[in-house]
Amino acid sequence: MTRFALPLLLVACADPTPPVDHTARRAALHAELKQSLGDTWTAGADQVLEGARTDRGEKVYNKSCGNCHGTDLRGHGPRAGGMTPPPQPLVGPDRTPLPPAALVHLVTHGSPGTAMAPWGRAFSETQVRDVVAFVWAKKAAAELE
Ligand code: HEC
Repeated sequence: MTRFALPLLLVACADPTPPVDHTARRAALHAELKQSLGDTWTAGADQVLEGARTDRGEKVYNKSCGNCHGTDLRGHGPRAGGMTPPPQPLVGPDRTPLPPAALVHLVTHGSPGTAMAPWGRAFSETQVRDVVAFVWAKKAAAELE
C-alpha cells in the first residue's frame, strides 16, 4: 500500500493545481446532461420551447448574454477576451450541437466552475425559455447562411 501511496503523494505535491481540460470537462457535463434528460434530450424545439417568444428572448439576450457570447452569438463579446474557459459559440459551425432541452438546462443551472452563471436564479422559467428560443432561432438562421 505505502509503496503506491508515496509516489502518488509526490505527484500530487509537484503539481497541486493542474490546469483543467475544459474541453473534456464540458464533454463530461454534456454526457451527464444527456443521461439525466433521457427522452427530453431528443425533444424538438416545438415541444420544449412551445409558447416561448423570441422577441422577448432577444431583449434578455442583449441585456444579459451578449457581453460574453457576442451580439452575433459566436462567443466573442466584449467581456470574452482572456476568459478561461471562453464563452462558447451558440451559433455557427463551432457550436456544440446541443438540443433545446440541454440549452434550457445549461442556461438555468450554468456550467459549474466557469463564468457561465445559473441564470435560473435571476430569471423566471419563461425568461429562460424565451432566451433559448431566441438562441435557437439565430442558430437556425446561421445554418441557412
Ligand atoms: C460572464 C460571461 C457570460 C455570460 C454573461 C453568459 N455566458 Fe453563457 N457561457 C459563458 C462561458 C464561459 C461558457 C462556457 C462554459 C463551459 O465551458 O462549460 C458559457 C456557456 C454557455 C452555454 C453552454 C454552451 C456549451 O456548449 O456548453 C450556453 C447555452 C450559454 N452559455 C448561454 C448563455 C445565455 C443564454 C446567456 C444569457 C442569459 C449567457 N450564456 C450568459 C459565459 C457567459
